[in-house]
Amino acid sequence: SDKRKVDGNSKNEQLEKFRVDDQDKKMTTNQGLRISEDEFSLKAGERGPTLMEDFHFREKITHFDHERIPERVVHARGYSAHGEFELYESMKEYTRAKFLQEPGSKTPVFVRFSTVAGSKGSGELARDVRGFATKFYTEEGNYDLVGNNMPVFFIQDAIKFPDLIHAVKPEQHNEIPQAASAHDTFWDFVANNQETAHMIMWHMSDRAIPRSFRMMEGFGVHTFRFVNEEGKGYFVKFHWKPKLGVHSVVWDEAQKINGKNPDFHRADLYESIDNGDYPEFELGVQIIDETDENMFNFDILDPTKIWPEEDVPVRIIGKMTLNRNVDNVFAENEQVAFHPGHIVPGIDFTNDPLLQGRLFSYTDTQLIRLGGPNFHELPINRSVCPFHNNQRGGYGRQTINKGQVSYHNNSLANNTPSVSSEEEGGYVHYQEKVEGRKIRARSDSFKDHFSQAVLFWNSMSDAERDHIISAFSFELGMCKSQSVQQQAVNMFANVNLEMAQEIAANLGVTLPESGGSNITKCSPALSQENTVNLPDT
Ligand code: HEM
Repeated sequence: SDKRKVDGNSKNEQLEKFRVDDQDKKMTTNQGLRISEDEFSLKAGERGPTLMEDFHFREKITHFDHERIPERVVHARGYSAHGEFELYESMKEYTRAKFLQEPGSKTPVFVRFSTVAGSKGSGELARDVRGFATKFYTEEGNYDLVGNNMPVFFIQDAIKFPDLIHAVKPEQHNEIPQAASAHDTFWDFVANNQETAHMIMWHMSDRAIPRSFRMMEGFGVHTFRFVNEEGKGYFVKFHWKPKLGVHSVVWDEAQKINGKNPDFHRADLYESIDNGDYPEFELGVQIIDETDENMFNFDILDPTKIWPEEDVPVRIIGKMTLNRNVDNVFAENEQVAFHPGHIVPGIDFTNDPLLQGRLFSYTDTQLIRLGGPNFHELPINRSVCPFHNNQRGGYGRQTINKGQVSYHNNSLANNTPSVSSEEEGGYVHYQEKVEGRKIRARSDSFKDHFSQAVLFWNSMSDAERDHIISAFSFELGMCKSQSVQQQAVNMFANVNLEMAQEIAANLGVTLPESGGSNITKCSPALSQENTVNLPDT
């Protein structure tokens, strides 16, 4: 489409330098040698064996043999598009991030939507969380907002992530069933790790079967930090709100679509962009002043909690428009490397223990997935501003760094890269005061696992509640272990007794008689009557 041509978008201009048009060209080897024959290997005699000296055959087969790279350990199935982010309102008061200063300013973006649990070839209408990862190519370097379509997460500490994913992925002994939420290990993990309660309510809701990538919300999930020019910090949560509204399919539709067209979501995204119906998402922020950190009856650093929008309104500050399809799915969708640790001045982390662990995991996995330490040089991952440092070598290195010296400090060269002051755009970490004993523990303020799950249930319409009960009954119904089913039903009696009883009756297990027995701590302010506003689904 025309959008692929250079259009003033700095990332698109950069990518143009890497695009190659093979149409109507003479075929060559990778060394540039023209090829005279591509159908027959070189043989000793017409009916004889293929000769080792057939370099064209060897090169062609070798390259093919190495075409695959490992799929992502999670979020393997995904689809992407390019676009731009336009700022409506300056965030200068809260952050020095350059791309959030001038209303009207535009920043190129690349977004990858994904499912979490399925393999690269799995169906797109699975009941699952959806990834919503955005790379902003800012003048100050890449900023990645690596979010999901649900505002909370299953666990509170990154050390449990491998356990969660081992429980969610197909069971190791036979991979039957493969569906993320329809087997014993998944529900066994849930019932024995009750911090999952709130997320599971979202997961059993219609949010887990979106109608389209264009009709999903996105959430940064964690509490991040904005830091302004004066060095003052604010807690911030990020939201994407689709201009088309939030829409889901019902389970029966999901199953039929998955059977007939497992590519339904990617086709919807690709075709809508191709037709000029550009998907749009508004960016919202919730901001809490640092002095209000302890004003809430939950811990604002707990990733299993939302900040109720009634208490902390979402401010809409800009809009992202996806207006260009990828040229090549491997080069863009597969090679892109998102990382919640890719940040710019004015944005910083908090002590959310899930976020802290993510900061390690992404580069680590990409080192193996993308074959060594130079994946930042892949076209899709390159920042639009240049990068300079003393890192050298490694598999796949493309940059040719000139000069004798590649270290700091030195006396032999006066032109090696030097560091920048804060005023010059040098990144300075927020000087949060931290002290404490080294312990493996979790703060008591993280121990309420049910209050917001109750809020979620209370906020649902009757139809949505029916869907949740059906989803629990279907997914738990796939479990072989009655004990696991019973544990799960008992756990969700803490969210709503009638809901749990109905699920138990559908499953044929013992009806729980009371809820609340295994609630670790329930905030008194969050009673069964409280609700929270969610966009209509
Ligand atoms: C992908 C780890 C939690 C969103 C990944 C990948 C890993 C990972 C290893 C594959 C990356 C790659 O191969 O390039 C973790 C760990 C977590 C965690 C250790 C918790 C401790 C989360 C949370 C969110 C999230 C809370 C959402 C807020 C994503 C997304 C992707 C992803 C969207 C796909 C990125 C893409 O499209 O390429 N995660 N993750 N993850 N993660 Fe996480």
